Amino acid sequence: MTVPHHLFVCTSCRVSDEAREPRDRRAGARLFAHLVEQFAKWAKREGFVIVAYDCLSVCAHPCGVALRAPVKFTYGLSVLLLGFAILVRSTSGSGS
Ligand code: FES
Repeated sequence: MTVPHHLFVCTSCRVSDEAREPRDRRAGARLFAHLVEQFAKWAKREGFVIVAYDCLSVCAHPCGVALRAPVKFTYGLSVLLLGFAILVRSTSGSGS
């Protein structure tokens, strides 16, 4: 049995000027939705899972994600993905 790689995405993250509600409009939720949509097009999906997560404890530096792979370190990332959040924001029509 193959243990999958996991990409955890905090769906609670929001950039400072975003409203708390509705939660599905937060940057993290939009990032998650965008990744899931793109994931469907990835050629090498097997053994990889994208998981929504409520909080990854990097709230001050959205959007939080973590990558876990079998027999490897687990990496938590945050500021690095701010660009993705901006991308998601701009493609959602709410960006400037
Ligand atoms: S709210 Fe996203 S890491 Fe805490």
